[in-house]
Amino acid sequence: MDYIRYQNGELFVEGVAVREIAKETGTPVFIYSQGAFAANLRALEAALSQTRHLVCYSVKASSNLALLKIVASLGMGADIVSGGELFRALKAGIPGGRVVFSGVGKTAREMAEALDAGVFMFNLESHEEMELLGDIAARAGAVAHVAFRVNPDVDPRTHPYIATGLKESKFGIPYGEAARLYGEAKKIPSLKIIGLDCHIGSQLTDVAPFQEAARLLGELMGELKGQGIAIRYLDVGGGLGIAYESETPPTAAAYVAALTSATAKFPDLTLILEPGRSIVGNACLLATEVLYNKETDAKNFVVVDAGMNDLIRPSLYGARHAIFPARENVGEGPLKKVSVVGPVCESGDFLAQDRLLPPLRAGEYLAVMGAGAYGFSMSSNYNSRARAAEVLASGEDFQVIRRRESYEDLIRGEIY
Ligand code: LLP
Repeated sequence: MDYIRYQNGELFVEGVAVREIAKETGTPVFIYSQGAFAANLRALEAALSQTRHLVCYSVKASSNLALLKIVASLGMGADIVSGGELFRALKAGIPGGRVVFSGVGKTAREMAEALDAGVFMFNLESHEEMELLGDIAARAGAVAHVAFRVNPDVDPRTHPYIATGLKESKFGIPYGEAARLYGEAKKIPSLKIIGLDCHIGSQLTDVAPFQEAARLLGELMGELKGQGIAIRYLDVGGGLGIAYESETPPTAAAYVAALTSATAKFPDLTLILEPGRSIVGNACLLATEVLYNKETDAKNFVVVDAGMNDLIRPSLYGARHAIFPARENVGEGPLKKVSVVGPVCESGDFLAQDRLLPPLRAGEYLAVMGAGAYGFSMSSNYNSRARAAEVLASGEDFQVIRRRESYEDLIRGEIY
C-alpha cells in the first residue's frame, strides 16, 4: 500500500492532506505515516521469519518517542549510540535487554548507564574501550555482554561520508586483529563474549557488499570457533538503502538472503539487524511553504521556509530528495528549472538544485520526500531557527508528536 500518494490532485499522507496539516501546524513540518513505518518493520520481520533474529531499530535515524513506542509495541529492540538514545529507548518502553549499544566513543558514564539498564550487547570498537568496559563492569559487580565491531574492508559503494567499513574508517577494529582481541576479551572475567558486529555503510542499493561482508564474518566466526569462542549473535548493522528518486534498492527478502548466505553453517546463530533508513526514510516527508520566487540571469530560485538546519542531507552529502507540490497541478505554464533554497545564511543552504518544477506562487506547499531518516534527527538551531514540528498521520487522523520549538526553547539553558 502507498501511504503517501496523490488523491484527486492532493498529496496525502495516509488519509490526511499535506496542505491540511501544513495549515494547521504551520511549516516546516515533518509528516510521518504510522502505517508506512510499521509496515516497513513488519516487512523486515516477515523476510526474517525463517531466521532467528532480533530487529533493533537504529534510533539515530529518527528518534521521536512516538516512533520508538511503535517499535516497542511490535516487540522489537533498539540500536543506540549514546546515553541520550538509551534514555529515549527506555522512555518509549523498549527494554534494556533489547538494546544494542554501538558507537566508537562511548564514555564511562554511558557505559555505566547502559550496564545499569541491562543492555543486551555492547559493540566494542577498540582495545581501550574493551579495557574500560571491563573495569566499569567489574566495579559494578556486573558482567557485560560484548561483541567486537569488525571492519571487513568492504566497499559499500555509497557516499564517502556514510561508508564505514573501509580500512581508512574510524569505525570498528581491523578484520585481521579481531581474533587476537577476542582472545584478550576472553581473559577478562567481567566481559562475556556473545557476538560479532559489523556495519559497512548506509544507503546501499546493491546486495553484493552485504554478501561479501557476511562471507568474511562467517569465516571469522569459523576461526573464532577454532579458538573456543562461540559467537551466538551476529549483528550485521544497518545500511539497506531506499529509493529517493530512481534508485532500486534490494527487497527485504533479497537483503536477508544476502545476509544469511554465509551463515547457514551456524544453526544456533541469532541475527541482529540495525535498520534505520529503510524503516523510516520513506515513511515521512518534509512540508515547506514557498516564500518567494527569485530569478536572476544565472539561476531561478524558489525560496522556501525549510532550510539546511531542518534537512541537512542535500547540503552535507549532495543527497537528492524528490520534491513534489502538495497540489498536483499547481501553477499553470511550463516546468521551470529551479533551485529550491532555504532562508539560512549559507550558499550551501539548498534542498534541491536545478530541478524541474511547475511555477510556484508564494503560499504554495512543497513536499520534500524521503525526509524521515536523518531529517529531523540531524536538524539544528543554526541561524536561531526553531526546529520544525513533527506530526504522525494514522488513517484519517494526525497528531503532533513534537511541537514546533518556540523562541523560548531557543534560549533555554542559556545563562545571561
Ligand atoms: N548501525 C550502525 C552502527 C550505524 O552506524 C548506522 C548508521 C546504522 C546502524 C543505521 O544505518 P541505516 O540502516 O540507517 O543505513 N546521516 C547519514 C547516514 C549516517 C548513517 C550513520 N550510521 C545520511 O543522512 O545519509
